[in-house]
Formats: sequence, C-alpha cells, structure tokens
Amino acid sequence: MKFAVINDLHAQFAPNPKQPGYPGANERAEWMLAQFAQGGSLAKMDFVIGAGDLIHGEDIKSISAELKALHPYLRNLAMPFYPCCGNHEIRQMEGDPAYEKPYAKTFGADKFDYAISLPAVEIIVLNNAGTYHLTPQRREERALKFQAMLEARPGVPKIVICHIPLVSLRDRDALHESFGFRSYRCLEVEILDLLDVYGADVRLVVSGHLHLTGMVNRRGVRHLVTAGTASFPHDYALITVSKKQLAVEVRNLPKALHEPASNIHGLPRYAKGYIDPKHKTHASYLRGLATERRFVVKL
Ligand SMILES: [Fe+2]
Ligand SMILES: [Fe+2]
Repeated sequence: MKFAVINDLHAQFAPNPKQPGYPGANERAEWMLAQFAQGGSLAKMDFVIGAGDLIHGEDIKSISAELKALHPYLRNLAMPFYPCCGNHEIRQMEGDPAYEKPYAKTFGADKFDYAISLPAVEIIVLNNAGTYHLTPQRREERALKFQAMLEARPGVPKIVICHIPLVSLRDRDALHESFGFRSYRCLEVEILDLLDVYGADVRLVVSGHLHLTGMVNRRGVRHLVTAGTASFPHDYALITVSKKQLAVEVRNLPKALHEPASNIHGLPRYAKGYIDPKHKTHASYLRGLATERRFVVKL
C-alpha cells in the first residue's frame, strides 16, 4: 500500500482573492493535484491525505469560495482523498462552528478528528489547527477524541496526521523566530502527554504548517513535516506500508516550478536565511538533512 501526503498548497482558485497569497502557489497546486488524476505520475497511489492549508483563506467568505473552487480538483483524483483541517481552512478558530462550517460542508462534519482504518495500520487524523486560539470546550473534546483514537485497535501500528507539528522540528528559538508565529508547534501540552501514555502503537506523526521539511525522532516516534507546495523548497511525502515497515520518502516538486521568493524562513521575508546547530546551511534548514527526507520505520 502506498499513499501520499500533500500539504500547504495555499491554493486560491476562486477569482479575486482578498490577499495576494504565495507567488506561483496556484500553478504548483494544480501540478500537484494533476499528478493524482487519471494518467498523472502518481495516479497509482492508493489514497491521498491533505494535511491542511490546502487553501489560503482569509475570512469565512473567502474560505468558502476557495474550498468550493478546490473541490472539483479533489473530485478529479483517481483515488480517495482524506482531508485534515489546517489553520487556513478555519482561520485558527478551532471549535468555532461558524468558521468550521465551510470545511464541514465541503468534507463532512465527521472529517475533523477521525480514523482511516486499514488492515495494516490505523491512521489517526487530528484537528489541532487552532492551537493556542482554540476554545476551552474544543481543547477538552480534542484531548478526549485523541485518547479514544489512540486506544482503538490496540497492537495495530498507528500514524497520526495533524496540521501543526507536535514537536519543534528545528532548534526551538531559531524556529520560533524564523516561522514568526506562536504555532511553531502544537502548544497544548496534553497532546504529547497523551502520546506518551496511550501512544505505544504510534510510529509516525506527519504534519505541515511550517513550510519547511524536517524529521525529529522523539522517544522512538518519528515526527515528519513536509514543506508543502506553496513555499520553497516545495516538498510532499510518499509513504509505503508493508508488513514490517513504513518507508517514507520526501519528494521535491520539479525545478521549473520552484519560486525561491516563496521561502518564509529567509530572503525575501528576512535579510538572511535562518540556520540552527544541526542545520548549518540555510538550504539544509529548509530541506532537512538527507536522513530527514528518506527513512524507514519498523512496524
Ligand atoms: Fe501553511
Ligand atoms: Fe498552517
């Protein structure tokens, strides 16, 4: 079984977007989605997961319009598509029914926190898109749902998909600064606590949101983030599941589609590109080391 995780397309397919968004994002989103359509280079994938921020979205009106404009592309895929809510689909308003309505209308109200149950693995999709901003009620609900999904099918290896990474993918201070938002990781501490207590079956967590690619091994669980297509260096992930292992491969978009000005961790947003102690060049800070881009996880 082979599936793809795509994220942070920041597509603005609806006419007259409120904000300009990422340069060239629509072109790259169209290319990415076309690979999964009939005749595309990835049409043989068993399914595709969208790990959030598939649209750019600004307010309820533009979120609605952009989800509506994106939907025909998703319907055109040659395989099932599973969504995961990103902050740009709800403007960080996790737990606010008005902001969550367009996403619920597009994908279903049951597609915020849910499991994709397969014979070999259980994929847990968790909405943590509003970290820090979420309502207290939602915080409680999120924790209870996460625990229940972690406890389901004991002994079956699990993969967690959530838009905002659960750990810091770079040196904490460097990433907090280069990303420039509080949500450089999921801030509600109970989520990692639940992973520690009930997550013995979890092998891999896949997220987006940071617009860079990296992988961290925390207590035997690999936490992968892919840059997504909107921002340079433009990556997505392919995951092959076999009886004994998960093989993870991060792929880069074709060079002709690259737009270095879409980088959010260096020029032109900042005077120079960020680095950290383990990533001594800006290129490796953005792309991750070779070991972060291709690895195998035992099941
Ligand atoms: Fe994003
Ligand atoms: Fe995001």
